[in-house]
Amino acid sequence: MPPDPPALPEEIAELTDPGHREDPYPYLGKLRERSPYRPFDGLVVVGRHAQVSAVLRDPAMSAARDRAALSPTPQGPRTRNFLHLDPPEHTRYRRLVAGAFARRQVAGLAPRIREIAAELVGGAAGPGGFEVVDGLAYPLPLRVICELLGVPFEDRDLLQDWSAKLSEALDPPIGPAAGRMTTDAARARAAFVAYFRKLIEQRRDAPRDDLVSHLLQVEEDGQRLDDHDILTTCVLLLNAGHETTVNLIANAVLALLRHPDQLERLRADPSLAPAAVEEVLRYDAPVQMTTRVARRAGTIGAAEVRPGDMVLLLLGAANRDPGVFPDPDRFDIGRGPAPAHLSFSAGPHFCLGAGLARLEVAIALELFATLPVRPRLRPGGVVYKRNLNLRGPDRLLIDTDAVR
Ligand code: HEM
Repeated sequence: MPPDPPALPEEIAELTDPGHREDPYPYLGKLRERSPYRPFDGLVVVGRHAQVSAVLRDPAMSAARDRAALSPTPQGPRTRNFLHLDPPEHTRYRRLVAGAFARRQVAGLAPRIREIAAELVGGAAGPGGFEVVDGLAYPLPLRVICELLGVPFEDRDLLQDWSAKLSEALDPPIGPAAGRMTTDAARARAAFVAYFRKLIEQRRDAPRDDLVSHLLQVEEDGQRLDDHDILTTCVLLLNAGHETTVNLIANAVLALLRHPDQLERLRADPSLAPAAVEEVLRYDAPVQMTTRVARRAGTIGAAEVRPGDMVLLLLGAANRDPGVFPDPDRFDIGRGPAPAHLSFSAGPHFCLGAGLARLEVAIALELFATLPVRPRLRPGGVVYKRNLNLRGPDRLLIDTDAVR
């Protein structure tokens, strides 16, 4: 039997309580106030913007989570994707994949994204209610990433199901579900792997103009990705790039509906859509937290850090640090150039898909705000997923009124 996990201090117990998914910010605020601190041996919690940002950029902090004394799921080097690697190995892998996400490549996807988004957003203009998560937030990024990777249209539902199950396993090892990779998540991972193994084989025999074929061919400085690298990269792209964007879209629609003045502002000037996306990223981070592992002894502020400590970085708390963002709990799409939020992380692991996510969601919001009807939230229409980290609505029901 594994040892019982240490009793959770009150603030962490409050944050991880599944009943608090709808509004974790009061608990994140308390943790930020106490930050940095060691609730128990092996864990350091960090929530202030400057400290989170510094840890993410600190070479003494490793992304190899399985090195943490607290880690429940040792992964072993061969099943790790590059999110879990450190430079210089990380740099090499990331460079091989990065070309596909370069600014120019991503900009080229805009017309197709607009086509898909227009079809989906159009569903909201019809009679009756519209469920934003199933109707827009899930299918938009899923279709885009599937088209990019070369996953056939008819397999999308399978991938959506596996991706949702796997995202539950991305919670950090704190809280009531600590250390339990659910059977569902483990099955989903196995199914993902089997699926992509087959797809890689097919593309090796008959390459197409898609990312899997590209990954099979890329070579830099004599380095290539082997099948295993391609496999873990595909699973990473689908999962990291999908659930996160789903949350961003749903969080964005919800924030706009809860702040009708901001929705009106966007309606009047749709060119504000990219600014609205940045404000949603700050206000309601789709990835609430990440972790690093200390390689050596040191300090973060007043907190002692020991080798093997897991450092829990509360991105959602840092984004509402009042020392950085004035009136941080106010949702304001006109904040203008502001200090960087940390929703896409920072340093060497800065999100590779940030440009793609920004583009997809800006297009979706622009189309949503300019619908020929006026959307409103149905009372009781929001239900949250259980996930602590990849947090977002599971259901988001809206009704629409004719525009007068
Ligand atoms: C890394 C957030 C969309 C691919 C990350 C990290 C965060 C993040 C926080 C770094 C975690 C860390 O430092 O420990 C988000 C959010 C998204 C989003 C909030 C949407 C709103 C995407 C998309 C893709 C993608 C669309 C690709 C299709 C990746 C990859 C990494 C990553 C490959 C690993 C980068 C590395 O380790 O060097 N993302 N992401 N993400 N993201 Fe995203």
